[in-house]
Amino acid sequence: MIDKINALLREVENMKAADAEELESLRIKYLSKKGEISALFNDFRNVAAEQKREVGKYLNELKEKAQNKINELRESFDNVQTADAGIDLTRTAYPIGLGTRHPLSIVKKEICDIFNRLGFSIAEGPEIEDDWHVFTALNFAEDHPARDMQDTFFIQHNPDVLLRTHTSSVQTRVMEKNQPPIRIICPGRVYRNEAISYRAHCFFHQVEGLYIDKNVSFADLKQALLFFAKEMFGADTKIRLRPSYFPFTEPSAEMDISCNLCGGKGCAFCKHTGWVEILGCGMVDPNVLDNCGIDSKIYSGYALGMGIERITNLKFQVKDLRMFSENDIRFLKEFESAN
Ligand code: DAH
Repeated sequence: MIDKINALLREVENMKAADAEELESLRIKYLSKKGEISALFNDFRNVAAEQKREVGKYLNELKEKAQNKINELRESFDNVQTADAGIDLTRTAYPIGLGTRHPLSIVKKEICDIFNRLGFSIAEGPEIEDDWHVFTALNFAEDHPARDMQDTFFIQHNPDVLLRTHTSSVQTRVMEKNQPPIRIICPGRVYRNEAISYRAHCFFHQVEGLYIDKNVSFADLKQALLFFAKEMFGADTKIRLRPSYFPFTEPSAEMDISCNLCGGKGCAFCKHTGWVEILGCGMVDPNVLDNCGIDSKIYSGYALGMGIERITNLKFQVKDLRMFSENDIRFLKEFESAN
């Protein structure tokens, strides 16, 4: 019996298998119910009582070695197989979550698409700007509060290197380089030195629109705005223009739309007025045209600017602005169907 155990032990130690199939037949040969090791366990009954202790010990060792050897060979096959099949073990398990567009991107695209249909093309500019393009060229007086340290992030204590506070700086750049007709829409991120709360952030997004040509009038502006409002918020939407002030437009206005939650009847959202403000606009101040090398005696134009967060809030009722930059997957997934 001991000799037989030793012979099998040697066989087991030298066991080799070319593939998983061969390994399985080895397992059957040695370890299955009818296998050779099991047969030895059956013969164990006939071993003399005084030898049982010793033989039993060897037998158990043989079984354990055989089991270990088979496991070892199986593991090496598993590894080879995975490498051969080119399986990437670092990949996330199925199902793989598909990303969705950020709500601000959805709304930015929608705004740009609407203006694209009116013949506007997209223009972009740098976020790190200088005083000229953000303020001076746009007719901001020397002591205008928007230049104040309160609002503007300056870079390296240099009053001429700053983060743009509005995307109107892109219109300066486009006008400097191009002669009319100019019809552009400028989406982008802007920065202001604000305390962060549910209703303000130190960065947000705007879309600026600019149209310069001969004989552009306020009526053209109003028509474009009405088209935009109806496309964005529905065909029943009404608009209202209120006189306002911006340094770079004269006359200037702010536009309200009929509250899209209550349809203009008055609710908590519109503070029971039936109207909500969505953008600033006006006729480009002749000083701005001249500053940028466009002859204000020949050309006129309109400009408009809106906050993407504001429009997104109106569309989706996001109560806390900070949600837009927290990357909370549960929040972002809520916009899956709007993609
Ligand atoms: N730049 C303004 C702001 O950041 C928005 C704006 C208002 C842009 C009126 C315009 C405009 O082009 O005509 O608040």
